[in-house]
Amino acid sequence: MKNGFVAATAILQFVAADWQFRSRPDLAPPRLNITIPAANNVEKGYLFVAPFAGYPDTATEQHGPRQAGPYIFRDNGDLVWSGYGIYSIWATNFQAAKWKGEDVLFSFEGDHNAGYGHGHGHTTILNDHYETIRELRAGNHKLTDKHEFHVVSDNTAVIQVYQPVPRDLTPWGASEEQQWIVNAIFQELDITTGELLFEWASLDHVSPDESLLPINPGQAGSGYNSSDAWDYFHINSVDKNTDGDYIVSARDACSVHKINGSDGSIIWRLDGKSSSFTLGKNVTFCFQHHARFHPRFKKDDEGDNVEYISLYDNAAHGTEDGRRSEVHTAPTSSGKIIRLDTEAWTAELVQAFYPPDNLRSKSQGSMQILPNNNAIVNWGSEGALTEYDSKGNVIFHTYMDSGYLGLGVENYRGFRYNWTGIPNEEPAIVALNKDEETTIYVSWNGDTETKIWRFYAVTGKYGARSFLGEAKRTSFETSLRLRNKDIRHVIAEAIGAEGRVLRSTGVAKLEPEILSAKGGKNVLPIVLNEEPKQMVVEL
Ligand SMILES: *[C@@H]1O[C@H](CO)[C@@H](O)[C@H](O)[C@H]1NC(C)=O
Ligand SMILES: *[C@@H]1O[C@H](CO)[C@@H](O)[C@H](O)[C@H]1NC(C)=O
Ligand SMILES: *[C@@H]1O[C@H](CO)[C@@H](O)[C@H](O)[C@H]1NC(C)=O
Ligand SMILES: *[C@@H]1O[C@H](CO)[C@@H](O)[C@H](O)[C@H]1NC(C)=O
Ligand SMILES: *[C@@H]1O[C@H](CO)[C@@H](O)[C@H](O)[C@H]1NC(C)=O
Repeated sequence: MKNGFVAATAILQFVAADWQFRSRPDLAPPRLNITIPAANNVEKGYLFVAPFAGYPDTATEQHGPRQAGPYIFRDNGDLVWSGYGIYSIWATNFQAAKWKGEDVLFSFEGDHNAGYGHGHGHTTILNDHYETIRELRAGNHKLTDKHEFHVVSDNTAVIQVYQPVPRDLTPWGASEEQQWIVNAIFQELDITTGELLFEWASLDHVSPDESLLPINPGQAGSGYNSSDAWDYFHINSVDKNTDGDYIVSARDACSVHKINGSDGSIIWRLDGKSSSFTLGKNVTFCFQHHARFHPRFKKDDEGDNVEYISLYDNAAHGTEDGRRSEVHTAPTSSGKIIRLDTEAWTAELVQAFYPPDNLRSKSQGSMQILPNNNAIVNWGSEGALTEYDSKGNVIFHTYMDSGYLGLGVENYRGFRYNWTGIPNEEPAIVALNKDEETTIYVSWNGDTETKIWRFYAVTGKYGARSFLGEAKRTSFETSLRLRNKDIRHVIAEAIGAEGRVLRSTGVAKLEPEILSAKGGKNVLPIVLNEEPKQMVVEL
């Protein structure tokens, strides 16, 4: 066979990029599969996601996304910023935030231990020019986990850590050899200095009795060594309220714990084996993620005894390849807003957001309540994101990639933010000539400000410019097609609001357009006889 990539079971295109953009042939962002286009009442802002492959690459198979990394998209799937190769290692939990009044981007960067759902790394913060301005590490000789980085005040953030420690675990059914347990730790850090301001460790306050995943049969680690430590609690989110107290989501205890920010004592437990509350209809959740305080839902006549929180209820546990046992606690996953009363000790469901296509994610997930009370629910290992209006109507739904690359794509958390990006790098330009026609393509990765691109021919040895035309910027790449008039070199200028020149490209020399049809619009046919095996992912 001439083409070495044509195998009996699969015909796959093994290239790093797929030529969606002439000016950036190196970029191949995911092609969102938008099954419910954005309605007029979606909240303003861009989508922030970091999709990655749930299927491992093998010698003959490659799965999407082609370029895993943090991305900013418009609602129509158009690329705003590709963070591929910028956040260099494995990146997740990508968001925008304010740090000391400045707009920043942040992401976890580090190693990913998919089988245990653990990350080992740090948080990288970029400014609005997409330059790294801070790498924040955990305090006390520990490694930051991927699940949480959340700015909770002007200059502090909470992170969490999975710290393996040896203990006698025989009271929980372990043998003498099964000695390792995960101490689920969270820290509040000064973002500027990295100073550790507060640290809380689960083993000081929460007995392994509270775990819903016993050490045997080892679904949360079986404790034989420090890499296989029993993850009995598994904190995957931390939030802080204005009183200075915290809530943590403990996946493997199916509970949310409120923690006193002065002495670390437990104020209450919601759900799990020893709930402080009587749960109303559909409040119960399990293997959940992303618990957040929402004081804004509080009504004027509600006192200090009333608190509102939200969370993403996976309602499922298991491995993505289905090799080990799977537990379901509801027909689908859902986003939930819950009202807590600490006088009556009742928990009531205020609102639940159920998925299109009956999605149920065994791992990952998030729910963001937007300023206009719309909600974004991100379906974790299902690689999908939905926006709801405040009444719960679905007004947008997307999967994170398309075609065969869309199989098994996962996304830990998904958000909508406003963002102004002014890239430090210069815009990219290419001019392709074919027969009597030249097309000039420009793009500027991460730019949100350009309204118009203005094109010039550069002539003579003094570089005199003559105006060729302009084109309205409507998406990531903008092009201008011209009849040839002896053009050799071209340049383009990005024009912002009020006609201000934002930046100029370098000078591009005309190149012959060699490849014709096989551009980004044509995805090669892919034939798969077998459903590929998915990796074991537990987050
Ligand atoms: C740790 O224990 C697990 C489970 O017994 C085993 O699969 C793994 O190879 C061990 N790792 C090391 C580094 O010993
Ligand atoms: C938190 O702990 C401090 C110090 O022990 C105590 O004074 C305070 O009342 C506690 N707060 C709550 C909400 O229990
Ligand atoms: C409660 O949950 C069930 C099953 O998930 C669902 O069918 C039902 O609509 C829910 N009820 C409310 C009030 O959310
Ligand atoms: C988009 O997602 C839907 C629902 O999962 C699926 O049926 C369809 O095949 C997908 N389309 C593409 C192009 O991947
Ligand atoms: C974006 O800004 C607009 C205008 O200020 C505001 O209405 C909207 O709520 C913001 N969106 C987000 C996601 O914060």
